[in-house]
Amino acid sequence: MENTAELKLDGKSYPLPTLEGSEKERAVDIGALRAKTGYITLDDGFGNTGSCKSAITFIDGEAGILRYRGYPIEELAEKSTFVETAYLLIYGELPTHEQLRKFSDLLTANEMLHEDMKFHFEGFPPNAHPMAILSSMINAASCFHPKLIEGYKPENFDRQAARLLSKVRTIAAFAYRKSHGLPIIYPKSVYKYTANFLHMMFSEPYRDYELKPEVVRALDLIVLLHADHEQNCSTSTVRMIASAQANLFACAAGGVCALWGPLHGGANQAVLEMLAEIHKTGDDGSKFIAAAKDKTSGKKLMGFGHRVYKNFDPRAKIIKKACDDILSKLHINDPLLDIAKHLEEAALKDSYFVERKLYPNVDFYSGIIMRAIGIPMEMFTVIFAIGRMPGWIAHYREVVSDAHGRIYRPRQVYTGATLRHYPATKDRA
Ligand code: ACO
Repeated sequence: MENTAELKLDGKSYPLPTLEGSEKERAVDIGALRAKTGYITLDDGFGNTGSCKSAITFIDGEAGILRYRGYPIEELAEKSTFVETAYLLIYGELPTHEQLRKFSDLLTANEMLHEDMKFHFEGFPPNAHPMAILSSMINAASCFHPKLIEGYKPENFDRQAARLLSKVRTIAAFAYRKSHGLPIIYPKSVYKYTANFLHMMFSEPYRDYELKPEVVRALDLIVLLHADHEQNCSTSTVRMIASAQANLFACAAGGVCALWGPLHGGANQAVLEMLAEIHKTGDDGSKFIAAAKDKTSGKKLMGFGHRVYKNFDPRAKIIKKACDDILSKLHINDPLLDIAKHLEEAALKDSYFVERKLYPNVDFYSGIIMRAIGIPMEMFTVIFAIGRMPGWIAHYREVVSDAHGRIYRPRQVYTGATLRHYPATKDRA
């Protein structure tokens, strides 16, 4: 039987319909609230607002559950690859052997950038942050493919999606090479997605980078774990832009900008900076934890806390183990890993973090893995962006293919000046 919420306002009673998702999360539908009552809802930071219905990713933050299209992240992390998971997110089902082959071939066919794009890279100063380059170049890439700017057409979608997913990795590697004054390395079609990225990052014109399977797998796991996370800041940005029917590349460029923020994707870089600072000052972590608890210090324990996970982040569990594995396989003894483990142990016993349900998130250990495989710190968030691309593509498609979709347009409670009239300059205080 349908459950109806009842709202009492100004002496009147209003029934509000409710709905239930496939995993039993419940929502009150306030779509007609303003029309019926004159009121809107106010929810700073959207902590309690469902912005859409979505069939892509399910998270239960209290239980520490993350599933892509119904499949637990733990199973995908163990058995799948980034490219297969990308297909799953974008198309909704795991691919057959043939579908995966076609998808991989399409990625390979789209791995090169238009040769003229090389000149765009030249325009950035040497110290440009690769996230700035990534965002600009994703937008620039769309100019070389005018069909993209035409917007969503189901018959073009496969090619557009593959183009974005494939080129973003080439752009990212080129951005790194450019920012280090190194010659650009072209992709090699014999390599799979993640191996090709490592090749473009670290090969030299005179010597190919040695691709170690454990390194390729570790990076593939990082991007897979980042592939989607429902309505987070950057994905909501992508959906917002998509709702205006902007093209896929424009949406992704906007997503990159949102992801760059240190409270979001920028946290993996911030974690390593924090660990390096703790190491440099000889602190065992206790001073930093004390500062993180002090609201006047301006410090936070980076890589800790999450808007949704209030028990544990399932990705953090997987990544912590992967971090131990890769460091031992590569025979690396990283003091920053010891500091991270110590910080985690101390924070998980500290009432400040326990009471606020602050646990390590996916970024707490991912930076240590990337450092171990030689990826420089300023590229960490770029790797996150490559990983998140399938999720953004899937969300873009969900928005633009919704026949009943409307442009996203939140309301506000205005708190500025009330009506006043324009004074001449001489009359202004
Ligand atoms: N260190 C210290 N205190 C923290 C931290 C932290 N990392 N995170 C939250 N808190 C405190 C807040 O100050 C607040 O304290 P109060 O109740 O005394 O005011 C309380 O815990 C609740 O936190 P909120 O601010 O409500 O958490 P919110 O959901 O708004 O923010 C966020 C979540 C942004 C992830 C936050 O925990 C944070 O800044 N963490 C550090 C940055 C980080 O690791 N970001 C990566 C997120 S995961 C991702 O994007 C992949």
